[in-house]
Amino acid sequence: EVTSNFVFGLPKAELHVHLEGTLEPELKLSLAQKNQINIGFETIQDIRKTYNYNSLSSFLDVYYSGMSVLQTEGDFYRLAMEYFKKAKENNVRHVEAFFDPQAHLTRGINFDTFINGYYRACQDAKALNVDAHLIMCFLRDMPAQSANEVLLMAQHHREKILGVGLDSDEHHNPPLKFAYPFSNAIAQGYHTTMHADVDQVDSIEHIKQALEIINVERIDHGTNIVENDDLVDLVKKTQLGLTACPLSNKFISDDYKGKEILELLDQDIKISINSDDPAYFGGYISDNYLALAKNYELTVEDVIEFAKNSFKTSWISPVQKNIYL
Ligand code: ADE
Ligand code: ZN
Repeated sequence: EVTSNFVFGLPKAELHVHLEGTLEPELKLSLAQKNQINIGFETIQDIRKTYNYNSLSSFLDVYYSGMSVLQTEGDFYRLAMEYFKKAKENNVRHVEAFFDPQAHLTRGINFDTFINGYYRACQDAKALNVDAHLIMCFLRDMPAQSANEVLLMAQHHREKILGVGLDSDEHHNPPLKFAYPFSNAIAQGYHTTMHADVDQVDSIEHIKQALEIINVERIDHGTNIVENDDLVDLVKKTQLGLTACPLSNKFISDDYKGKEILELLDQDIKISINSDDPAYFGGYISDNYLALAKNYELTVEDVIEFAKNSFKTSWISPVQKNIYL
C-alpha cells in the first residue's frame, strides 16, 4: 500500500513547476499590501473563490492576473524560496523550475529584477539540500520575435539558466512557430522542453512538431501520445521524458489522466509526476502522487518508477544522477 509517509519521504526530482504558479494566496495578499497593489480581493477566501477554472485559458487568466503583485527582486526571491521550502518538505532533491519572463517584462519589470531574485533563491536552496535550476519559458501566445528578444536579454545571464521551454495558451500556437528561437537556444547550449497540455486542439500534431522538427529533450504533459502508437514508439525509443501533472489535469480536463499515465508507465515510457502550478491546483508534488495512488491503485513499485524517471529525465550530470538511481 502506498502511504503518505512513503511518498513524502521518497527522494524525487521536480521537472515541471512554474515558479509563478507557486504563488500562494497568503503571499499574494502580503505582497499586494507591501507593494500597494489593488488585486480586487481582501481575503484569502475571496482569492480562492476565483480558483475554479475548467480549461487552460480560464486558468491562465487567473494565473497572469495574480502576478501583478511581484515587483522587486526581493519579491521574486521570496516566491522562489517559499517554493524551495515546500520542495524540501516533499524530499525533492532536484528542481528544474519554469519561469515566464514575458509575463513580467510586459508589466514593466526588468529582466535583471526577476532573474537575479530567482537565481539567488536557487543558490540559497543549496542550504536546504535542494539542487535548484531555472528553465526560461517563452509564452507561445506572443510573437516568435518576442521570444527572440527574450533570448537576447538572457545572454547576459546565460549561466543562470539551464534550459528553455514553451508554455501559455496552446491554441493556434504550434511548436513550429518557435522553430527559430528554439534552434538558436539549442545552438547556445540550452536544454529544451515544450508544453503539450492535456486534450488541447491539435495536440498530436504539436507533439510531432516538438519531437521531429524542434528536437526537444522532454515534453511537458504530452500524455495525449497514448492516442498514437507511432508516437508512443518514438518516445519510447528516444527515452524522452514526459512530465505529467495529475492535479493540473483534473482542472484543465476534469480528469487526472491516471489511466493514460499508468498505461504509458507500463509501456516503459519515462514519465514522471510533477506539480505544474501547485498554488492554483491544490497540491504540491507528493499530493500529485497521492491523488493517483488514491484513485488508480498505484503500487509502491509504480511510485518508485515515477521517482526514478524524474531523475533519469532530469538535466543533472550523469555522475550526479548515479547518486539517485
Ligand atoms: N503556464 C503555467 N502553467 C501552465 C500550463 N499548465 N500550461 C501552459 N502554460 C502554463
Ligand atoms: Zn506547466
